[in-house]
Amino acid sequence: MKGFNSAALVRLSGLICVLSVCSDVSVAKEASPAASVRYDELSRAFELKAKDVSYVFGINERGDLQALHWGGRFADNDALPIAKAARDHSSFEPSASITPQEYPGWGSTYYGEPSLKVSFPDGNRDLVLHYVSHHIDGTRLLVQLKDISRDVRVELRYEIDAETGILGRSARVENRTGKVLTVQQAAAASWSLPAADDYRLYSLSGRWADEWNLDERRLAPGTTVLESRRGSTGHQNNPWFAVARDASNEESGPVWFGALAWSGSWRISVEQDPTHRLRITGGYNPFDFAYRLASGGILETPMFYGGYTKSGLGEASRLMHRFQLAHILPHAPKPRLRPVLYNSWEATEFKVDEAGQTKLAEMAARIGVERFVMDDGWFGARNNDKAGLGDWTVNPNKFPNGLKPLVDKVKSLGMDFGLWVEPEMVNPDSDLYRKHPDWVLNFPGRPRTEARNQLVLNLARTDVRDHVFRVLDELLTQNDIAFLKWDYNRNWSEPGWSEQLPEDQQKVYVAYVKNLYWILQRVRERHPNVEIESCSGGGGRVDLGILRFTEEVWPSDNTDPYDRLSIQDGFTYAYAPAVMMAWVTDSPNWLNQRGTSLEYRFLSSMQGSLGIGANLTHWTEPDFELASRLIGEYKKIRGAVQQGNLYRLVSPRQGSPHSVTESVSADGAQAVLFAFLHSSSMGSNYPRVQLLGLDAEARYRMRAIAGKAQSDTPDEASGAYWMSRGINLDLRGDFQAAAVVFDRIGARK
Ligand code: DGJ
Repeated sequence: MKGFNSAALVRLSGLICVLSVCSDVSVAKEASPAASVRYDELSRAFELKAKDVSYVFGINERGDLQALHWGGRFADNDALPIAKAARDHSSFEPSASITPQEYPGWGSTYYGEPSLKVSFPDGNRDLVLHYVSHHIDGTRLLVQLKDISRDVRVELRYEIDAETGILGRSARVENRTGKVLTVQQAAAASWSLPAADDYRLYSLSGRWADEWNLDERRLAPGTTVLESRRGSTGHQNNPWFAVARDASNEESGPVWFGALAWSGSWRISVEQDPTHRLRITGGYNPFDFAYRLASGGILETPMFYGGYTKSGLGEASRLMHRFQLAHILPHAPKPRLRPVLYNSWEATEFKVDEAGQTKLAEMAARIGVERFVMDDGWFGARNNDKAGLGDWTVNPNKFPNGLKPLVDKVKSLGMDFGLWVEPEMVNPDSDLYRKHPDWVLNFPGRPRTEARNQLVLNLARTDVRDHVFRVLDELLTQNDIAFLKWDYNRNWSEPGWSEQLPEDQQKVYVAYVKNLYWILQRVRERHPNVEIESCSGGGGRVDLGILRFTEEVWPSDNTDPYDRLSIQDGFTYAYAPAVMMAWVTDSPNWLNQRGTSLEYRFLSSMQGSLGIGANLTHWTEPDFELASRLIGEYKKIRGAVQQGNLYRLVSPRQGSPHSVTESVSADGAQAVLFAFLHSSSMGSNYPRVQLLGLDAEARYRMRAIAGKAQSDTPDEASGAYWMSRGINLDLRGDFQAAAVVFDRIGARK
């Protein structure tokens, strides 16, 4: 699936040119028994099919590409439906507007959300896209569209994943008119669903330290807009959606879901038209967007991935997780397990130095930490957030002998070394800014608004891009660094790019992000063993675009273990637990002043990729003992937790004092249950927990690694028993937690 963004695409595009007359060559071709793409001459329709999904669209009598079906899988011998444009409902609801088009241009009588809107130098802004040709290559389909009179070409790209049925879609717009044109709006894809009155939209919203709220709303005619206008993904909305029906729930019922792979300004509009059909359009945010294409110029959109399941929101998440592990993350299809890391931020903030970090490293090694990460404060004049960003040289007062003594120490303790960077930003109080004040996003003569005392370097500039790459390359070449925590602590303001002609400045929205990806990719190529975490003041830059280059993300600066339960719950609707970093920090927590036990904090964090962010110099001997034991246990279960199948058995969102997750390893040999209690009341027992996803006939040995089961619980029973009767946990009091492991006895039958 990554192929559309890589060299394979170039190869494929080449093929298309050679085979531009290939519309009649489109023979159904099985790429693998599990996934196929076919074109049916009789009905003039295409079907992409994999897992339990068929995605079908056709060419109607006008030449529009018309959506026909996205849902359950057709039989192999089913004829494909024939695309027929909808009849005008009235002059106000004309056919062009109510026919579900695959990729509508803005023109004629189309009043819905367009996928593409352009303006020509002669003032014409009418664009009507019709089918020209197509090409099928295994599980990939390319369809060429062209405007009815002007040579504006759009290549729609489709690919279906055999294992999950998730489709990847994108578009490539090419100007062959011989004159300049301006793209005012370009979507990666538009997804259509038939008319219904019981669609519910799920989306993820938030703000700093309060990310990943799962919102649910009943759709009605009109448009719901999810977006970022900020230059980056944003905490406020995440580029993910799910649409369900009234009858759908966590483990059953139809769900359509999707995510945009873009880390810049984006928009997903969910529009229910007057006939109650649904159209979900996503791509570059058209707000303040203008992309001039010279003759021969090309604009490629990001990928928009979409999937379907009949088995509820839980299965939608599991499909997304599996897809990310198999196709998106670095080293896919076998992403590396996340090591247990220590991060210095909450312990020392900017007060890092060789002696203090060495002490923390020694303590971290004692409890089984595998990676020691030094956070902000190690460089330039960085004693607080007012100065130093941009000056990526080691602070000589804090590290008189450079980083080497600390790195060597960390390595001698059996850990690898990670470092915090924020390469896209600059404090005005820095040598870099004093030397290159023109390097930041700005409109000349206008204020340069600071946030956290910093400005955004204009990565769209080639000189800035090359500088940032050089700095990182040197840092990684000169120091034995295994990991970068890549931070990004503000959104854009005054996004001018004054080296460009005024009419080309808005290209910054695309060029910046493409150059960011370019840097990430080159850093990874030059330093293939370095891993990267994407952080943006917590969860402000989490999306499938950045995840192609980063092994993990920091979901939130909120490290309160109770708040984290709902943050993590929301996060997993869209993203895999493997990428979800979760630190055990100090109590009371700095944000809420809530006090919780060390065990509770551990269990909350052990549901994701475990990290420690506490000030270990304050720990007691029993704290070290408990931490060593739980980190040891975590190493035995992290395969299941990070890369297994997640079941959100009881969601903390539902206002319940209880929450429970279960992770089943990919091979089915282990299940891990985490249960949390906010507070007991009325002497009630913890509700019995029934597991999911076990092999009913296999036997599983139960072992509590924290908390305990009630005495009526057997040590060993069948999968059927654990899934039907379940387990009674002995949880009472405030902020209590338990973790139970179920290991299958013997191999799968
Ligand atoms: C924001 C991040 O989210 C924190 O974890 C920490 O790295 C600070 N930045 C450092 O300035």
